[in-house]
Amino acid sequence: MRILVLGGTGRVGSAVVRVLVARGHDVIGLARSEASAAKLRQAGATVIGGDIVAPEAWVKTLPHLEAAIHMACDFASDMAAVDKRLLDALLPALAAQPHRARFIYTGGCWQFGATGEEAATEASPFHPLPAFAWMVPHLQRVLASPDIDGIVIHPAMVYAGAGGVFDRFAREAIERDAIRVVGSEAVRWALVHSGDLGTLYALALERAPKGESYMGASVEAMPIGRIARAFARRYGTARQEPDIISSDAIAAELGEWARGYALDQRLSGAKARRELGWQPEHLDPEAEIARLA
Ligand SMILES: NC(=O)c1ccc[n+]([C@@H]2O[C@H](COP(=O)([O-])OP(=O)(O)OC[C@H]3O[C@@H](n4cnc5c(N)ncnc54)[C@H](OP(=O)(O)O)[C@@H]3O)[C@@H](O)[C@H]2O)c1
Repeated sequence: MRILVLGGTGRVGSAVVRVLVARGHDVIGLARSEASAAKLRQAGATVIGGDIVAPEAWVKTLPHLEAAIHMACDFASDMAAVDKRLLDALLPALAAQPHRARFIYTGGCWQFGATGEEAATEASPFHPLPAFAWMVPHLQRVLASPDIDGIVIHPAMVYAGAGGVFDRFAREAIERDAIRVVGSEAVRWALVHSGDLGTLYALALERAPKGESYMGASVEAMPIGRIARAFARRYGTARQEPDIISSDAIAAELGEWARGYALDQRLSGAKARRELGWQPEHLDPEAEIARLA
């Protein structure tokens, strides 16, 4: 398929591009800088120059497409308005394609709030983190759009080696005398390795019926204290016990969106396994941390 990818250099998007190229798809990546364009070319994609902040300029230049995947976000305070303007320009452009286009929109685990013991599924009601509440009408708009085949993927917390959501644990294991965790050691995150998530996007692109949503979660719930302690062990951090910081402290440091780090969640990826044949391979993050170079 010929696919436009937005955000193809990010934590989610770079893995998706890698998998799509490996499966023989023709990937066109949007790049807002020469550095991003170089990364996309290196991964085997071709490039269209453009910024999601001003989509009207580049949607006019799009070649014929069979699909688009949106994974771009800059986590700034105007991300809701930027995303709305993007959909206002991109959805009509996809609807005008000669063949009916498929469109995957990226939601996220933080749309489901603190779940308690019962795993959230695609059928669970949304309880979004306030900083990401704007996303609910956007993903509903994509799913309900009559002119395209809209699909939504909600990634869990995405890691790869010491990168993605593990990046901060790895850095602090080296730079500080203890790793910081937000809320409490008992807070649980649902996790997914970026390579497995890339495969899920490809399967959804190739097989998902329109209007469907999928959780991208391969590990339902992992206490963040166990992740922090695994990094502290591996890197010989002075104090093995993590420092607990509040969600106010992390929001002051990174922005309101970072309160999501304190959400205690359990998410089920069973629907993607059952309906798309997704078989994630990375199921033991602690063992992967222990093997890190
Ligand atoms: N990572 C996770 O654990 C996770 C979990 C659930 C949901 N999500 C969702 O997945 C999406 C992507 O997250 P991520 O973690 O992959 O983010 P990321 O690593 O920060 O990547 C963001 C991507 O968006 C691109 N981008 C940002 N602003 C842009 C602009 N103005 N114009 C064009 N491209 C722009 C970046 O390109 P440049 O190369 O130019 O910077 C990059 O490719 C977000 O909506 C996020 O909420 C992520």
